[in-house]
Amino acid sequence: MLSVARKAPQRMLNRIGDMKYFHDHRHAQRRNEIRWLVEEFTDVPVSNLPESLEGFKIVQLTDMHLKPFTQLEHIERAVLKTNLLQPDLVVLTGDYVWHDEEDILDLVPALAKLNARYGVFAVLGNHDIKTDAALITDTFTRHGIRVLCNEGLDLQVGNDHLHLAGIDDGWLGNPDIVQTLSNHRANKPVVLLAHEPDMIDWYAHDERISLQLSGHTHGGQVQVSPGKPFVRPYLGKKYVQGLYRVNQSWVYTSRGLGTTGVPLRRNCAPEITHITLVSGDPEAVDYPNKPAVPAV
Ligand SMILES: [Fe+2]
Repeated sequence: MLSVARKAPQRMLNRIGDMKYFHDHRHAQRRNEIRWLVEEFTDVPVSNLPESLEGFKIVQLTDMHLKPFTQLEHIERAVLKTNLLQPDLVVLTGDYVWHDEEDILDLVPALAKLNARYGVFAVLGNHDIKTDAALITDTFTRHGIRVLCNEGLDLQVGNDHLHLAGIDDGWLGNPDIVQTLSNHRANKPVVLLAHEPDMIDWYAHDERISLQLSGHTHGGQVQVSPGKPFVRPYLGKKYVQGLYRVNQSWVYTSRGLGTTGVPLRRNCAPEITHITLVSGDPEAVDYPNKPAVPAV
């Protein structure tokens, strides 16, 4: 729990976040995108995709950072839109709160309304570990959402399997890729949840990973012009937004749903990510996204 001293700046942030200015329609018209929700649809070719997984639909939601700039109503709308997409699987890739761990108590009941045929799974991000990883994990668990921390499991889809794994946060956690993939057997494709996208470079030699799903960057949150992010955080400097190929693997970085730092998004709207797995050779795809810069 936060101390009284630490709560003081939080109260100030809450007052800013609660200001009507940020939550009326005129504000959106002033070209602040914090209340927008854009659905991004991407096909990801996987070379060893079994027949039963052709067209498998994954929706990713990330970086909600509930309060003060991201309000619960915004997340509830994202949940409604996600359910309308009728996903096979929903994954949540971290940073659920910003400063106050108790905000998770409001957030998770809303996320528990997500529907997916093969379930809803989560990993934690750096803000979750910085606040209260135990409380956040426990709250998800009590609402039936499993948090994967350096572990994986097989999801049976028809006669085949998808191996879903989640690795601990790369910034403040203890990520261990060997342990994370220790349950993986044979030729099953791996979808790896990792909060920070640049972590893919740590294990890019591992050909078992078909796709890593990440958030963390907010796409920069403000892009001076489209494709020019204003801020790129640690472990989010290289794969800033969208789909990238890294050796045999793909990494997809979502801009996320929430807003931190300043109550502003521009050229960088909140995102609901819809991934469709399709069979194909990743190397045969000419994909336009190139890493922003070498990771630092
Ligand atoms: Fe983060």
